[in-house]
Amino acid sequence: MKITIPANFFAEIVAKQPTMEPQTTQMPRIGDKAPDFNVTTTTGQLQLSEYNKVSWVILFSHPADFTPVCTTEMSGFALEKDFFAANNAKLLGLSIDSIHAHIAWVNAVHEKTGVLFEFPIIADLDMHVAKLYGMLQPGESETAAVRAVFFIDPEGTIRLIMYYPLNVGRNMEEIKRVLLALQTTVTHKVACPLNWKPGEKVIIPAPRTLEGLAERKASNLEMVDWYLAKKSI
Ligand code: BEZ
Repeated sequence: MKITIPANFFAEIVAKQPTMEPQTTQMPRIGDKAPDFNVTTTTGQLQLSEYNKVSWVILFSHPADFTPVCTTEMSGFALEKDFFAANNAKLLGLSIDSIHAHIAWVNAVHEKTGVLFEFPIIADLDMHVAKLYGMLQPGESETAAVRAVFFIDPEGTIRLIMYYPLNVGRNMEEIKRVLLALQTTVTHKVACPLNWKPGEKVIIPAPRTLEGLAERKASNLEMVDWYLAKKSI
């Protein structure tokens, strides 16, 4: 018996395949405008674009309330409150927990250790912000945000992103260092070399003309080669 396959047979099969699940995580990139949001936080309702006006925002996620590593990290941010205020940076925490869980945790840590998380913490139970910022990374967890940090400048642009897994806490010294490095590069139009720390020399952009090259060669800058020169600021 001859079996005749209709001309549109394969086209129909393809059309009937379930469509791919929409991506659950979107990954903002360095240089992107920080996606705006309006959220419930431990200090009240908050609009990112308002909170971000004229200051840097450090938006960071943690996996869950009442967990040990998260408690150390949140306490670390809280204890550096004066550093961030002095350097024009506002903190904004997030986890996929309810506002009541957040309040209970903040209160518990305060009662046990005396450390108060005064910065707002987003209650992201519907995962809206976690998905918007690529904080939900399904290979790591389908329900808990990874440890992300977004450095957002006062114009609302993402300048640096860190992602850490659930089981490794972040480094507060590095968070503080990169904030100052980012601000230094903006203020002085320079770049920061390996392991740069405040007070150390910075890198000046390489000359882009022969005249610039001649000027650089004649300068008394600390120079490894014409394209790698450092200065104090
Ligand atoms: C913690 O914060 O201790 C933690 C949270 C999720 C997974 C592993 C550790």
